[in-house]
Amino acid sequence: MQQQPPLQLGVLGSGKGSNFRAIAEAIDAGRLNAQVRIVIADVEDAGILDYARARGIRAEYLPPGRFRTKLEPEAEARLVALLREAGVDLVVLAGYMRIVKAPLLEAFPNRIVNIHPALLPKFPGLEAWKQALEAGAAVAGCTVHYVDSGVDSGPILGQSEVPVLPGDTAETLHARIQVAEHALYPAVLARLAAER
Ligand code: GRF
Repeated sequence: MQQQPPLQLGVLGSGKGSNFRAIAEAIDAGRLNAQVRIVIADVEDAGILDYARARGIRAEYLPPGRFRTKLEPEAEARLVALLREAGVDLVVLAGYMRIVKAPLLEAFPNRIVNIHPALLPKFPGLEAWKQALEAGAAVAGCTVHYVDSGVDSGPILGQSEVPVLPGDTAETLHARIQVAEHALYPAVLARLAAER
C-alpha cells in the first residue's frame, strides 16, 4: 500500500513541551506519519521552543498582547498567518494556555486538537488533575479532543484512564497523567493521519 504524505503539524505550547517531545519521538520511531512544520509559543522562554530548536524545527515566540487568557486579535491573525505559511494541516495544542478564538477556529475548522489532563466532560479548565483529586475521584486521566469555541468542550477523539492512588498529591497525580498523555496524544494523531 502506498504511504500517504505526512500530516503537517503546527504545535502550540506554553510550557516544557513534554507532549511535543512524545509526538516528535513517535514520528522518529515511525509510529506517526507526520511532520512538525512549526512550533509556536506565547511564552518567550518556554521549554517547548528550546526543544524544537534543538531538533532543527522552526520555533517562533508570538507575543500574546495585553490579555491573560486569550491572544490579542492582531496576535491571533499573526498566528494564523504563521501556520498557513508553514503549510500546516492540523493545529496541535500541547500545553497551550490560551483560549482559541474565531480567527484560528475559522482558519482551521475541525483541524485543531488539544490534550486535557482529565476525563472530559469532567473537570474542564485549569489544573484539572487538582480538581479530580479535590473531588475525591477514584479515576483520573486525559482526553484528546477537537477544539471548538468552548473551554475544553469539543468532540472527544480519545481518552486514557489513570488511577488515583492513596496518598496521591497534585504533583504525583499530574505526573502519572502526563505519562498517559505521552502515549495517548501520538496514538490519536497517528489515527487521524491514517484516516485521512
Ligand atoms: C499537559 O498536562 C496537558 O494536558 C495540559 O498542559 C500540560 C502540558 O504539558 N494541557 P507539556 O508542556 O506538554 O509538558
